[in-house]
Amino acid sequence: MFISSALTALALALSSATQVAAHGGVLAYSIAGTWYQGFKAYNTPVGQVSIQREWGTPLSPCFENQLIPFQIPTDPNLSCNSNGASLGTGQLFATVAAGSKVTAYWNTWPHTIGPVMVYMAKCPSNCTTATTSTLEWFKIEQAGLISGDYANGTWAMGELVANNNSWTTTIPATLPAGQYMLRHELLAIHTSDQPQFYPECAQLILTGGGSSAPTSSYLVTLPGAYKASDPGVTLDIYATPTFTNYTIPGPPVWQG
Ligand SMILES: *[C@@H]1O[C@H](CO)[C@@H](O)[C@H](O)[C@H]1NC(C)=O
Ligand SMILES: *[C@@H]1O[C@H](CO)[C@@H](O)[C@H](O)[C@H]1NC(C)=O
Ligand SMILES: *[C@@H]1O[C@H](CO)[C@@H](O)[C@H](O)[C@H]1NC(C)=O
Ligand SMILES: *[C@@H]1O[C@H](CO)[C@@H](O)[C@H](O)[C@H]1NC(C)=O
Ligand SMILES: *[C@@H]1O[C@H](CO)[C@@H](O)[C@H](O)[C@H]1NC(C)=O
Repeated sequence: MFISSALTALALALSSATQVAAHGGVLAYSIAGTWYQGFKAYNTPVGQVSIQREWGTPLSPCFENQLIPFQIPTDPNLSCNSNGASLGTGQLFATVAAGSKVTAYWNTWPHTIGPVMVYMAKCPSNCTTATTSTLEWFKIEQAGLISGDYANGTWAMGELVANNNSWTTTIPATLPAGQYMLRHELLAIHTSDQPQFYPECAQLILTGGGSSAPTSSYLVTLPGAYKASDPGVTLDIYATPTFTNYTIPGPPVWQG
């Protein structure tokens, strides 16, 4: 009896470990040389301290279950994952000079087909109290099909995997100082039917900077920026495996 329940507990522990490994998100950031631990998904948020917003909330109605990413481009939690909540008193900011490099480290990532996008949004006052679905997001970087064709080419997500599951981006040097949300997003398109969005958010206090902010043509809401009919959102790469064009969804990149 004891052995059997111990084995059951072990099996459960192993299966939840497998789930975390199977899908996931950003586990940590290196920002201008400082290491920041991410939110520990699937653990209780109580007592956690991080620059990252909560993500990976199990069994949320929109997340369906722990293994399934967002498959609907208008999911209400698309901005900062499920549930995207602030950690309250545990919610930290990374203080970073405009123009600095940010590296996001994912867990061991199973997918290599699809684009990588990085967004930011200025918080109206304090990011800790911001509702991320109402922020005005702008894209600071994107990469899609880097070389080759749909089926056998090199995608940005493949580069991420090859580069120690990490992605390095530069905060635009001309952004005005202030509080910002930073959002990384992977869009996996290796399945023939449904896109898989993996958004992750962290809070920044930007110092230095300039006076050039993105104008309205660069600003979007999330959800709001994507629809299922976007060519880069719902496509079957295996239907036209030798195509070499890929249109990354969402707004144009703001260059600063
Ligand atoms: C996530 O979506 C659920 C509905 O599915 C909603 O109740 C919740 O407020 C959303 N969270 C955020 C942070 O938008
Ligand atoms: C943001 O608001 C929280 C909650 O009121 C507060 O604890 C924190 O000090 C504020 N942080 C900044 C950087 O304004
Ligand atoms: C491209 O990928 C497909 C599907 O994985 C494979 O069958 C095919 O042999 C590959 N073609 C080349 C030229 O590598
Ligand atoms: C690879 O990523 C891990 C974090 O997942 C980090 O601890 C390690 O330093 C990285 N290795 C290199 C060579 O950058
Ligand atoms: C690739 O080009 C075809 C033909 O012009 C077009 O129909 C399709 O939408 C494009 N696909 C992507 C993902 O941009």
